[in-house]
Amino acid sequence: MSWIQIKLDTTPDRSSELEDLLLECGACAVTLQDGSDQPLYEPDLGTTPLWDNLRLIGLFTADADMEEVIEQLNQSAAGSFSAHRVEIVEDKDWEREWMEHFHPMQFGKRLWVCPSWKEVPDENAVNLMLDPGLAFGTGTHPTTALCLKWLDAQDMNGKQVIDYGCGSGILGIASLLLGAKHVLGVDTDPQALEATLDNAGRNNIDTSNIKICYPRETPEILADIMVANILAGPLISLAETIANLTKPEGKLALSGILEEQTDDVTAAYTPWFDMEPAVVEDGWVRLSGIRKASI
Ligand SMILES: C[S@@+](CC[C@H](N)C(=O)[O-])C[C@H]1O[C@@H](n2cnc3c(N)ncnc32)[C@H](O)[C@@H]1O
Repeated sequence: MSWIQIKLDTTPDRSSELEDLLLECGACAVTLQDGSDQPLYEPDLGTTPLWDNLRLIGLFTADADMEEVIEQLNQSAAGSFSAHRVEIVEDKDWEREWMEHFHPMQFGKRLWVCPSWKEVPDENAVNLMLDPGLAFGTGTHPTTALCLKWLDAQDMNGKQVIDYGCGSGILGIASLLLGAKHVLGVDTDPQALEATLDNAGRNNIDTSNIKICYPRETPEILADIMVANILAGPLISLAETIANLTKPEGKLALSGILEEQTDDVTAAYTPWFDMEPAVVEDGWVRLSGIRKASI
C-alpha cells in the first residue's frame, strides 16, 4: 500500500493550528521535523522546545483527495505556512528498513557491539549483543562510542564499576564482558533500569553481578571505575555525588559533553579528580580523570 504525505514549512507558533487542521482533513499521523538543522540541547525540565523553522508532515492514505486537503489548508490557514509539497511514500517493510541501519561495530581492540539479527564478525572478540530499544545507548552515538573505547582500554579485571546514567546498560554490560566483577547501573528513568537488566540477561550476565537503582537509592558501593554519559548540566550538578561514589585513585570517564562545555565540566570535577586532556569525536567530548587520594 502507498501513502501520500504533505509537507508544510511553518513556525512554532502556527504548528498546533496546522497539526489540528491536518488531522481534521483526515491525516493518519502528523510529524514535526527540524526545517533547518538547528540542534536543541538540554531543554529545561517540563519544556518541549520546537525548532524555529518547522516542517509539519501530514500522512494520508493513498485514496485521500489531496487537492481538497490543500484547498482546506488554504482556506483555513492561509499565511500559516510558507510552502507545501505533496509526495507519494512507497510502503516498505519498515521493520527491516530500520534493522538495515544497525551493523556490528568495533570499539577499541577487543569490544564489539552486535545486533542479534547480524552475524558476529569475530567469535573470539568480546561481543556485546544489543538491539535498539526504548533506552538510550546502542553505540551509534559518539558519546557512547567514546565511553566504550575508553572502557576497552582499561584493565577491568575484578573491578567494581558504576554506570551512572546507564540507559540501555551498554557501558555496564561492556564492563562486565571485559572482565569487571560487578556493575551498579544508576538511572532516573525506570525504562532504562528495566532495559539494563533485560540486556544483561541477553548477554548471559549472572544476575548477582549487576545491580540497578535510582539515584536516591544508591547503595554504599565505591567504584574502581566510574563512567557517566549524561549531559553537561547534570554532570556538573552531580560532581560531588560522583566523586563520593568513586574510590581514591579510581578512574572516571564522563561524556555527553559538547566541546564548548569542556572547561565548565572539567572545573566542576577538578576539586576531586586529576583531570586528563579531553578527547573529541564529532563535536562531543570525553573527559577522564583519576580520583585524588585525599582532598
Ligand atoms: C545519554 S544517555 C546514556 C546511556 C548510556 N549510558 C550510553 O552511554 O549510551 C543518559 C542517561 O542518563 C539518564 N539520566 C539523566 N539524568 C540523570 C541523573 N541526574 N541521574 C541519573 N541518570 C540520569 C537518562 O535517563 C539516560 O538514560
